[in-house]
Amino acid sequence: MKFIVTGGAGFIGSAMIRFLIDETDHSVLNVDKLTYAGNLQSLTSISENPRYQFVNADICDADKMTEIVADFQPDKIMHLAAESHVDRSVDAPGEFIQTNIIGTFNVLNAARSYFESTSNKNFMFHHVSTDEVFGSLGDDGFFTEETSYDPRSPYSASKASSDHLVRAWGATYGLPVVITNCSNNYGHYQFPEKLIPLIIMNAFNEKPLPVYGDGSNIRDWLHVDDHARALYRVATEGKPGETYNIGGKNEKTNLEVVATICDLLEGVKPRASHSRYKDLITHVQDRPGHDFRYAIDTSKIERELGWKPQETFETGMARTVQWYLGNQTWCDAVSDGYSQTRLGLKSVN
Ligand code: NAD
Ligand code: DAU
Repeated sequence: MKFIVTGGAGFIGSAMIRFLIDETDHSVLNVDKLTYAGNLQSLTSISENPRYQFVNADICDADKMTEIVADFQPDKIMHLAAESHVDRSVDAPGEFIQTNIIGTFNVLNAARSYFESTSNKNFMFHHVSTDEVFGSLGDDGFFTEETSYDPRSPYSASKASSDHLVRAWGATYGLPVVITNCSNNYGHYQFPEKLIPLIIMNAFNEKPLPVYGDGSNIRDWLHVDDHARALYRVATEGKPGETYNIGGKNEKTNLEVVATICDLLEGVKPRASHSRYKDLITHVQDRPGHDFRYAIDTSKIERELGWKPQETFETGMARTVQWYLGNQTWCDAVSDGYSQTRLGLKSVN
């Protein structure tokens, strides 16, 4: 089959494309604007494969999207392109509205005109979304596919909005659509503005390890390769019109995550000063509107599509720390010119 992956030079998109090229026989067109978060070096292992192509394009360019989809004639569109960082959305929400809402509208329209002109029975528009659309949990409970939407950040509100557009294109125009809402991903090739790579890289560089507030906020962590395997199941076997939640059943406080990284680093690269990595932990001002807890009930995708994560948090984190240790070139390349100034506080300072 032929897959369009939007946002394929990003963290999850690149894992998706490596999976499609390495583990299947499908062809892939990567549609990416290469923002600060997109890097083709994440795809060097597959970039010479004849089943892979790249086009540098902005999903906010409606005509270009229509042309790309009409020319490539995909069986599946996996839509991942987005502005993805919550702190960044607090400082500058405009780009999130453009890319996540208007961009999704353009890709949907392109998919609709292509779908209406073809007899392709395999066609599916797969919208890759987030558990953050459901808001914030207290100490108990899980997000299910029936949980009401309650987004609380500009990022999650823009993703919620795009989810609604996708459902509307399914119900109104008969476009075969499917949505996934996933919890926090971690793993190789993640841009170092997100918690786990930021902490690993700061620790390497003997910099403070910033923990927002008291560090008790909880996220449900999933290795990115497990997410890619789940996305493939949904794109190829999911029922049109359905939503599937994806998560790792790995609820950790942020302090637990940071402590895990410190402990792993003690084992593989003890500090020259003989002091402990944990001594670098620094509690900093909290994120405005910081969601307290995310946790996913994954029973639907397990029951209906037979997906389960393969990686435990312990094995996945050990692999991830080792990967960043061995891939300083990638880290330096993506961080080049990237200011490590704390994001997300412009509205409160
Ligand atoms: P990322 O920021 O690492 O990558 C986003 C990619 O989209 C980049 O390659 C970027 O260049 C591209 N892009 C941005 N704006 C574009 C535009 N206007 N036109 C074309 N390309 C553009 O993001 P990620 O973490 O890989 O997330 C991918 C998707 O998965 C997003 O839709 C995000 O909401 C969703 N998601 C992420 C997580 C997570 O933990 N990272 C969890 C659940 C869902
Ligand atoms: O839940 C899925 C979402 O997970 C995705 O939709 C988003 O694209 C992705 O960025 C992620 O959002 P989070 O806001 O949860 O991820 P982030 O890595 O920014 O933060 C994780 C937690 O760590 C959060 O509680 C804030 C905290 N944090 C973050 C940073 C960057 C810190 O304590 N210190 C930090 O320096």
